[in-house]
Amino acid sequence: MAAAPPSTSAYPEAVLSAVHDVDPDVAAALRAERGRQDDTLVLIASENIASPAVMAAAGSWFTNKYAEGYPGKRYYGGCAHLDDCERLARERACALFGADHANVQPHSGTQANLEVYGAVLAPGDTILSMSLDHGGHLSHGHPVNFVGRVYKIVRYGVRKDDERIDMDEVARVARAERPKMIVCGASAYSRTIDFEAFAAVAREVGAYLLCDIAHIAGLVAAGLHPSPVPHADFVTTTTHKTLRGPRGGLVLCKDQHKKALDKSVFPGQQGGPLGHVIAAKAVAFREAQAPGFRAYQERVVANARRLADGLAGRGYRIVSGGTDNHLFLVDLGPKGLAGGAAETALDEVGITVNKNMIPYDPRKPMDPSGVRLGTPTITTRGMGLEEMDQVAALIDRALTGGAGARDAVRAEVRALCARFPLWGGPT
Ligand SMILES: Cc1ncc(COP(=O)(O)O)c(C=O)c1O
Repeated sequence: MAAAPPSTSAYPEAVLSAVHDVDPDVAAALRAERGRQDDTLVLIASENIASPAVMAAAGSWFTNKYAEGYPGKRYYGGCAHLDDCERLARERACALFGADHANVQPHSGTQANLEVYGAVLAPGDTILSMSLDHGGHLSHGHPVNFVGRVYKIVRYGVRKDDERIDMDEVARVARAERPKMIVCGASAYSRTIDFEAFAAVAREVGAYLLCDIAHIAGLVAAGLHPSPVPHADFVTTTTHKTLRGPRGGLVLCKDQHKKALDKSVFPGQQGGPLGHVIAAKAVAFREAQAPGFRAYQERVVANARRLADGLAGRGYRIVSGGTDNHLFLVDLGPKGLAGGAAETALDEVGITVNKNMIPYDPRKPMDPSGVRLGTPTITTRGMGLEEMDQVAALIDRALTGGAGARDAVRAEVRALCARFPLWGGPT
């Protein structure tokens, strides 16, 4: 697909010069980061490129405003305009996902999850969630974090043979442990999640169901992944991954949990909301309601499939054999490679990925067998199927060629990036 012309927005230059006037050091770092994002192929599955409108709202006047509380019920004066924004953000989030209630104040995806736990659990209660090394997230409970210290965490994972969530195991552990909450949703799982099946297990054992759609929220909003909203007590997400908004969190819930949730967010676990980020969330939700958003998400998924196929065709093992969403894991073991070394080799040629555990990984978390690849960012730039074939070839050459091959790959990566400027893709 041909690249659209670059955006003519003056926004980034104006920002850089305003910072430069006061602080040339930080301006230099900002300029360098813009250059890095421009010149590299970002395949980090959890990243995206927020629009100029989202970035402008996130850098706006609301950063000056304190507004503890909720619209119409604040502990500070002067909140009328932020009230408008927060109401818009909540209404748009509810409309986008078909939810009863939205809280748009969580500062992050982790915070959103903690706030759901705080709304309905007591310390010592049991949470059943997906193992981190099978694709779950730290905030779903782990011995190294606060969630794992406050609650009892029990686990489910994926089957060894097909690397898909084992619903029999979910039901078995749920019946044995009687958790107060079941958490589903993942950071590194490429297959469709059966939220309805999770809801059936939760109902059977009397547990609350939390579906964390941090990664797939854009797909869910676009109708490309089944929605958990009809089935779950709570749905959490980040707003900055496939959803392509500002960095932040969001909780959706059924009406009956609305009071407890809002209390758990404020005053339970947060102080003043980030009004500038709430404004940017409102803008992002509007963008997600625009007609082009579904087409964008379709391209994200099609690109992920094509990239996975391109690598599989070159002998790489794709975990679970493929992908239904925006990401996939590559097991580098059969190629005699490891995740850490691959991340470094790709970084050297301007391809950014993250090393990742694969299910039943024989290696250690700091040097696992896999890498995780995702297509939200390069799709936002306007890249399509043809470019995915090229990216698969570039990855293979960077990983298996020598130093000479890497120089050529680096030059080709730059040339590809130059054809698809950051804000140049169809919106
Ligand atoms: C499934 C899932 N939940 C929650 C989070 C946490 O989001 P944040 O980094 O905003 O705290 C992530 C982040 O990657 C995630 O993948």
